[in-house]
Amino acid sequence: MVVRFLASVVLVHGALCAQPSAPSPIPAPLRELPWGQLNFLHTTDTHGWHGGHLQEPQYSADWGDYIAFAKHFRDRADADGSDLLLIDSGDRVEGNGLYDASNPKGKYTFDIIKEQHIDIIVSGNHELYLRNSSDNEYFRTVPDYKGHYLASNLDIYNPDSGKLEPLAPRFKKFTTKNQGIRIVAFGFLYDFHGNANNTVVTPVEDSLKEEWFQDAIHDRDVDLFLIAGHIPVRDSKETTNIYKAIRDVHWDTPIQFFGGHFHIRDYAKYDRKAYGLASGRYMETIGFQSISGLTTNEESTNVTTKRAGPTFARRYIDNNLFSMYHHTGTNSSTFRTEHGKNVSSMITHARKELYLDKTYGCAPQDLWLNRAPYPANDSILTWLENEVLPDSFDVKAAGSVAPRVIITNSGAMRFDIFSGPFTIDTTFLISPFTSGFRYIPAVPYSSARQVLALLNNQGPISLQDLVAFSKAHPDVETTGDKMTQLDPHHPQINVPTRWETSITSTKRFGPSLQNPVGVHYPSTPDSDNQLLPGYTTVDDGGNDGDDTLHVPIRFYDVPNCIATNIGFSTGATPDTVDLVYNQFIERWILLALRYLGEKYEQSDTREILEGKSLTEIISDWVASHWQC
Ligand SMILES: *[C@@H]1O[C@H](CO)[C@@H](O)[C@H](O)[C@H]1NC(C)=O
Ligand SMILES: *[C@@H]1O[C@H](CO)[C@@H](O)[C@H](O)[C@H]1NC(C)=O
Ligand SMILES: *[C@@H]1O[C@H](CO)[C@@H](O)[C@H](O)[C@H]1NC(C)=O
Ligand SMILES: *[C@@H]1O[C@H](CO)[C@@H](O)[C@H](O)[C@H]1NC(C)=O
Ligand SMILES: *[C@@H]1O[C@H](CO)[C@@H](O)[C@H](O)[C@H]1NC(C)=O
Ligand SMILES: *[C@@H]1O[C@H](CO)[C@@H](O)[C@H](O)[C@H]1NC(C)=O
Repeated sequence: MVVRFLASVVLVHGALCAQPSAPSPIPAPLRELPWGQLNFLHTTDTHGWHGGHLQEPQYSADWGDYIAFAKHFRDRADADGSDLLLIDSGDRVEGNGLYDASNPKGKYTFDIIKEQHIDIIVSGNHELYLRNSSDNEYFRTVPDYKGHYLASNLDIYNPDSGKLEPLAPRFKKFTTKNQGIRIVAFGFLYDFHGNANNTVVTPVEDSLKEEWFQDAIHDRDVDLFLIAGHIPVRDSKETTNIYKAIRDVHWDTPIQFFGGHFHIRDYAKYDRKAYGLASGRYMETIGFQSISGLTTNEESTNVTTKRAGPTFARRYIDNNLFSMYHHTGTNSSTFRTEHGKNVSSMITHARKELYLDKTYGCAPQDLWLNRAPYPANDSILTWLENEVLPDSFDVKAAGSVAPRVIITNSGAMRFDIFSGPFTIDTTFLISPFTSGFRYIPAVPYSSARQVLALLNNQGPISLQDLVAFSKAHPDVETTGDKMTQLDPHHPQINVPTRWETSITSTKRFGPSLQNPVGVHYPSTPDSDNQLLPGYTTVDDGGNDGDDTLHVPIRFYDVPNCIATNIGFSTGATPDTVDLVYNQFIERWILLALRYLGEKYEQSDTREILEGKSLTEIISDWVASHWQC
């Protein structure tokens, strides 16, 4: 492991690229990139964060910086005769104001993203929830990346002709520019079911039987199979099936997967010549992968020159300028490129147009979703439970006399709140979900008080049993296919992720948890080297994957749901309460009540607070409580 400890460098704020309000990165010890014969840069699940993280120095570089970064690497590849390819594994949309705040959504982001040359790009599930966002792929991203966008198992009803057709070519075969490496590439999406009905996702297993796929993998003149997928690289039947299908035909041709969807850094080894890389989320991570010792076009006919390799290596780059300068051997005056600067300006311009820096108030301290235990003073959930929900649903203010139990799901929150300005941008980051609150009047308190425990898997039965219960009672309006559409293995736009974690009890799964294989926590922070908290990934390549040395961040499990009681007189238990909940969990609330013997239908529910979303409730609260 090569670690270079760098003397601290003073970086002058504003002299850099990134966004004008972005914090300067903080110098930290770095590991070198294992540059090789064929090199990749990989992004996944960027979710609109193309402006970078403006409150976290570690991830503060923007898409313009990434463009400059890639340019330096292309130059390096051309200079030393190696190759560089860029991959994006989808979920570029939804989750950041730069995308979500415009009308229509994505008004600015398509033009920004397309400035980066990407060699293989695919769709994620988020591109497909809405008819109009998949149409955007058809009309914008696919043409922008003509010849690079792949859709191995994804079709779309052509918005003009109404005919079902592949969104993009199923696969592609190409030869790398400098090394002449012959690559057959695919672009798969996991078996996703929540898409709007203008797209059709073919289950991966079925696609593998199709003639085009069988033909593609029966090609003998291939040095590398490359699968860019919006699919986890580990514990995924889709990945396993693709791997097996190729291995059935080629027992030892190298295979490289680039996956995503779980929002984690991960590197999986399938065999000596087959690996998969997942590169995190939200523009926090730029994945680097290299493969050396691949056969090439020229050599392949010469059996005697079979190389010893190949060797595979990976690195997860923290997306900040400090890392980028270091890995490209540049500094603040030599890093910038005109193209990169232009794209950074496009982002600044879009952010201005969208008023993303407009401030509601200033947070007095950091509040954490998973980085604090629950309950705790620095837990977002405790803050919601003790302050935001009681103030916002105050009984008298709302003109009601009934006591209330208010339940919301922790999955409705997506991100931490950092001390400092709470802006329009922040609202999109912490909770992009738009569902409002509803309530059921006069629910017997004896039942209402048990709902929370059921939803948190602390009741007499588990959530899995609840689902089974719903299937055994088909008369329950809220069940059947609808329930399975929650698609418990996969986070969706409106499906809170922790919620699903509990449903499936997949312990290692969880997009907010950064390490799939387990985080190791040293008992004391590394004070000698002044390491900052951050990713400390452990994967099949070991524990040296992160480019930046960090002390680990501790993550805590939090409950699926939290509840607040309002308008209870001290010492007395009410007979009935209004049961208020985030609409997103309505099915679960009705189901839990049904299990408790209270038969309510959707038609018994009513809107409350004019259907304001949790995000609106929070920003209103911030405006009246957190002065700057
Ligand atoms: C899709 O349509 C909805 C509802 O009309 C709109 O709010 C949204 O901005 C549209 N999204 C895109 C990506 O065009
Ligand atoms: C998709 O759903 C809409 C309305 O929900 C319906 O009008 C349309 O026919 C459906 N399209 C397809 C291809 O099934
Ligand atoms: C084939 O291998 C031999 C022995 O290593 C080498 O001398 C020759 O140049 C190779 N030919 C090609 C076309 O690479
Ligand atoms: C950046 O590097 C160049 C070339 O090595 C050097 O001339 C210049 O002084 C450096 N600039 C800074 C700000 O360090
Ligand atoms: C950068 O923007 C300027 C002004 O719009 C334009 O003239 C120039 O061609 C752009 N350069 C690149 C490399 O995109
Ligand atoms: C929260 O802060 C209050 C006062 O600031 C303190 O009394 C209490 O112990 C803290 N609670 C936790 C869980 O840290």
